[in-house]
Amino acid sequence: MGSLSFEKDFELSAMTPKGLATPCLFPNGDNKRQKVEPPAPRKNLQLAVTEPGFGNDGSNFLDSILVNYLDTLTQRVNFHIGYPVNICYDHYATLAPLLQFHLNNCGDPFIENTVDFHSKDFEMAVLDWFANLWEIEKDQYWGYVTNGGTEGNLHGILLGRELLPDGILYASKDSHYSVFKAARMYRMDSETINTLVNGEMDYSDLREKLLQNKDKPAIINVTIGTTFKGAVDDLDIIFLTLKDCGYSQDMFYIHCDAALSGFIVPFINNVSFASYLILKNSQVINMQSDILIILYAI
Ligand SMILES: Cc1ncc(COP(=O)(O)O)c(C=O)c1O
Repeated sequence: MGSLSFEKDFELSAMTPKGLATPCLFPNGDNKRQKVEPPAPRKNLQLAVTEPGFGNDGSNFLDSILVNYLDTLTQRVNFHIGYPVNICYDHYATLAPLLQFHLNNCGDPFIENTVDFHSKDFEMAVLDWFANLWEIEKDQYWGYVTNGGTEGNLHGILLGRELLPDGILYASKDSHYSVFKAARMYRMDSETINTLVNGEMDYSDLREKLLQNKDKPAIINVTIGTTFKGAVDDLDIIFLTLKDCGYSQDMFYIHCDAALSGFIVPFINNVSFASYLILKNSQVINMQSDILIILYAI
């Protein structure tokens, strides 16, 4: 692959969210030479919450704070780089009217709600969509939409610990910090596995540590897209390593943290890693992105 030239290969205006920022960073169309200085780093807005009736809480004052904040974000979004999040958020404007309702999806989306002020119908549709993406039959999974990746990791690892109460959590050092937080919260023993230079788990280190703890079950966190390098741990090698080290199917549990690339892997590999996992017939596998789908292997 040839080297990338930023000016040549990226059309910046195509990456700018519609309706938010100026359509082109180089208004006179010369995207080649003109240098655009990013605005100064965002300043702390020095805000304080004021109770009604105390201090300057008039609606004009609040409006000006909001407008100022929107202006700042609109400017900064053009220079946002370094954290792998989607900056194209236009579609949320369509959903804005829903903010006037306090919807509550508490509990299991598969169970009828006692009150009808919820959006579980949509939640189920999202789950089905993901199941389909990952080639899981409709009645072969359970899951719910979480508030984010951390909650997915906490839930998935908790399931592992419930199934294998004295299991040791194995996670590479490039795993998201919420994985190690889960180990501390649940008071689990854990082993940190070294990583290769690309951020992928170092499988020989995994092997060494699995062999050292053969008397205890293994709960393995597999990262499908690490936060900083986007590395995908190789499930094939992990399965083989477990087998080689003598771990039978009832002695391990695998949690896949797919927060980053769970959406991407099915498209780039031309094979869903979920169906791949089911084929491997492991005991229980659970994957999370911002939704959590728990797979019970058949
Ligand atoms: C690989 C991975 N897992 C989990 C998370 C946690 O997600 P959240 O910030 O939504 O809790 C992140 C966040 O960047 C992540 O990159």
